[in-house]
Amino acid sequence: MGALSHPDAQGHYLGKCGDRMQIDLQIVDGRILDARFLADGCGATLACGSMLTKMACSKTLEQAKQISPDELLIALDGLPDDHLHCAELAVMTLREAVIDAVEGH
Ligand code: FES
Repeated sequence: MGALSHPDAQGHYLGKCGDRMQIDLQIVDGRILDARFLADGCGATLACGSMLTKMACSKTLEQAKQISPDELLIALDGLPDDHLHCAELAVMTLREAVIDAVEGH
């Protein structure tokens, strides 16, 4: 958890519940070397952010973009029904960070 001091890319996303997430990426040769997240939302976003940034490390940008909310939920062994959208928030934030990496700041 946290932010990178010199991220190569950064994604922000506002979930439908009003919670926000930020994901910072360090990228070398199109591969994610480090990922950190910040979240101001529920406890489930902390679990989602922490698992998702772990999953993104060492993946290519293309692979990271393809991680789905379902894959994240499987890795987390599920979430309560009223928190399924928290996984979506984390995945959308990572996708925004990948778009930022591809399109540049
Ligand atoms: Fe908003 Fe979990 S309740 S992200």
